[in-house]
Amino acid sequence: MTAVQQLRTLISGTEIAQRVEEMGRAITRDFDGQRIVFVGVLKGAAIFLADLARQVQLDATFDFIGVSSYGVRPTPDEELNGWDSTGEVRLTKDLDQSIASKNIILVEDILDTGLTLTFIKKMLLSRDPKAVRVATLLDKPSRRKLPFQADYVGFTIPDEFVVGYGLDYAEMYRNLPDICVVPKR
Ligand code: IMP
Ligand code: MG
Repeated sequence: MTAVQQLRTLISGTEIAQRVEEMGRAITRDFDGQRIVFVGVLKGAAIFLADLARQVQLDATFDFIGVSSYGVRPTPDEELNGWDSTGEVRLTKDLDQSIASKNIILVEDILDTGLTLTFIKKMLLSRDPKAVRVATLLDKPSRRKLPFQADYVGFTIPDEFVVGYGLDYAEMYRNLPDICVVPKR
């Protein structure tokens, strides 16, 4: 059996497309006629951003930000079995453009402990944007370490390690069209 055959589908590509369309409509409505900047968190949010942006009928530009956790990186097994980062997040790639006075939609694949989005949102807010709203495809509220609420949530999921549609396990499976659960070992 190949690794990919051990995965169980949690959310199908069809369900994702339907939900992403609804999220796009909500953003279009909320920002009614204004310009927005999609800011994607590399690399997991790339696929979600590409699909979400095409469901938003507003003038929009894209930018991307890269972050990583300080210190030791988890081994793939630790990541799968609920590794917790130290809470120190650092910027590895900054935005290309100024966001002063702009409407930002911060796009993330999954909101887990909340450490990453807390760090990024705080940093973006310090640059005097007009507004920052957070769109996350997935939310695992049971794992939160810092209180964080996204403005647009695709699906709330249980405490499972998931891959596909941009999400990885040791950089693999990002290209799966469905969101799948990796069995714990
Ligand atoms: P947070 O800082 O704990 O909220 O973590 C967010 C980051 O952890 C995401 O951008 C993912 O890279 C990673 N992550 C958390 N849960 C999962 C998962 O179930 N599958 C893949 N990556 C995950
Ligand atoms: Mg990851």
